[in-house]
This record gives sequence, structure tokens and C-alpha cells, in this order.
Amino acid sequence: DWTMGAYREQAIAAIREQVGDAKVICGLSGGVDSSVAAVLIHEAIGDQLTCVFVDHGLLRQGEAEEVVTMFRDHYNMPLIHADEQDLFLSALEGVSDPETKRKTIGRLFIDVFQKHAGEVGGAEFLAQGTLYPDVIESVSFSGGPSVTIKSHHNVGGLPEKMGLKLVEPLRELFKDEVRALGRELGLPRSFIGRHPFPGPGLAIRCPGEITREKLAILRKADAVYIDQIRRHGLYDEIWQAFVAILPVRTVGVMGDGRTYDYACALRAVTSVDGMTADYYPFTHEFLGETATRIINEVKGINRVTYDITSKPPGTIEWE
Ligand code: XMP
Repeated sequence: DWTMGAYREQAIAAIREQVGDAKVICGLSGGVDSSVAAVLIHEAIGDQLTCVFVDHGLLRQGEAEEVVTMFRDHYNMPLIHADEQDLFLSALEGVSDPETKRKTIGRLFIDVFQKHAGEVGGAEFLAQGTLYPDVIESVSFSGGPSVTIKSHHNVGGLPEKMGLKLVEPLRELFKDEVRALGRELGLPRSFIGRHPFPGPGLAIRCPGEITREKLAILRKADAVYIDQIRRHGLYDEIWQAFVAILPVRTVGVMGDGRTYDYACALRAVTSVDGMTADYYPFTHEFLGETATRIINEVKGINRVTYDITSKPPGTIEWE
């Protein structure tokens, strides 16, 4: 794509011009926006850039390893892998209100990011994968208007608090252009096509109280579900798909015995921008096969339901 080739060169020149020989830190979530921003800036200024990847213990199966492997080993970027799972999970103990979950995660994220970014020493800039739509409207999520966090890496007030200037090389781009730029920069296709994942992560897919046990079950079920979707060639047709573990246990039979395990809900939607969405019309065969696999492969779940709510009136996430 010649347009993106030209954009890439122009953006690299602009980053060099803005940053000079100063140090830059970038919050990496593993999402498309922050990843493309990081790779572009790394191409412009090399090791003047350090990325900070915060593992809040609410990521999906294998996600932290994937991000670290890709950026540290494949791209050779200086990367701080902040394993802060215990901190976040203990702060969330006993919290079941969705708004409180988001606020707790957002607040801790700022603290943790600040702490680890401080290890870099003398950074002058903070890089963010802000897109054009984020610039023109402040997006509000299911948590309501008091939530100003677009993603846990695009945290309002953070640059001011840290006394850093912003580098936002994607500010003029829409999502599809960011994907094109990502391809231009050689990011793997599988990575660029990934479904959106919310900043608060699995916390808002575990309605009610979050426990390590529930998170472990949820991760396994989600991995089986996504594997099913990929095997059936449906991943790219779907905007977002995930499992929510429900705060209810139900009775089942397995062999000669009675089980009393969690119920889960599968969610899959089509959407253009996440503002409205329709549930995905899976075939009954697909749903049946997936339910059987989850119940057989995931200890702790004995009932699977499919969420057929569209947005509005539902939201995409369960909280
Ligand atoms: P809802 O559930 O409001 O979600 O229909 C719309 C889109 O936004 C994502 N989402 C979030 N992303 N922080 C985020 O970074 C959040 O608190 C948050 N809540 C929802 C959701 O995954 C979907 O793509």
C-alpha cells in the first residue's frame, strides 16, 4: 500500500523531529493500537523507546507470554514486564460492583505504570496509541460517563501527573488505517486482526466477585471457545467473542456422579465500531459442539449458555 508507505516515512520523520534524543516510554497492552504505535516509534528512535507491559492478572490464557515474546524477542525492544498480578487481584478481592472494579484497576494501573516507568530514568515523553476517533470524542463505556479510561494504557491525566509530553503518532488515523500501517510495518496478520480486548480485561467477564479459581476456569473455557471459532474459520467474521463465567453454580450429571459447577455464557457479536452490535448467528451444530467441548475439557463448568442479546439494549461486555 503506497499511501501507508508514505505515511510511515512521514510519521517516522515527525517522531524523530519531536523527540530528538530524549527517552520515550510506552504502555503496551498487546492490543493493535499500542502495538502499532510501539513498532512505529521503535523504528524511528530505536532503543530510546522502552515499553512497559503491565500484567494485571486479568489477561487471557498465554497472553502475557505472547506479548513479551513478540516485542522483546522478535522486535528486540527494551520491554519492562511488570508482573503485578498479586497487587491487582488482592485489591479486587471482595469487589463485585462493575464501576468499582474499573476504578480500582484504573487507579492501580496509574500507580504501577508510574513506578515501572520510573525505572527507565529521565524519560521525557509518553507514547500513546490514540486514534482519531479518540481525539474527536471521549468514549464512554458500560461503566457510565464517570469512566474516562479508553483503555488501561490511555489513562486520562497520566502524562500531566508524570510530567511527560505526549507522542501520539496515530492521532490522524482510523482503526482500519492503523491495521494497514501495522501490516506495512510487518506486524503478523494474526496480531493485527485480533478482537478488541477491554482494559479491565477478564474482570468485567467475571460478573460479581473475582477469584483466582474463577479466573482460571474462565481462561480455559475462553481458550476452547476461541479455538472452536478459529477451527470453523469464523474468527474474522466476528467483532468480539469471549466467555463470561457466571456467578452461579448449577447441578449437572457426569458419569455416575452429580456435579455442582459454574455456568458460563458465550458471547459473540458483529459490529462496525462497538457502539451497536448484533449477536452472531452460530449454527446449532457449532453451539452444541462447543458446549460439549467446554464441559468435557474445562473442569469447573457444567453448563453453557449462548447470549443472544444485541446492543442496545445489551452491552457487549457483561459488566
Ligand atoms: P460495551 O460493553 O460498553 O463495550 O458494549 C463496547 C466496547 O468497549 C470495550 N470496553 C472497554 N474497553 N475499557 C476498555 O478499554 C473498558 O472499561 C471497557 N468497557 C468496555 C468492549 O470490550 C467493547 O469492545
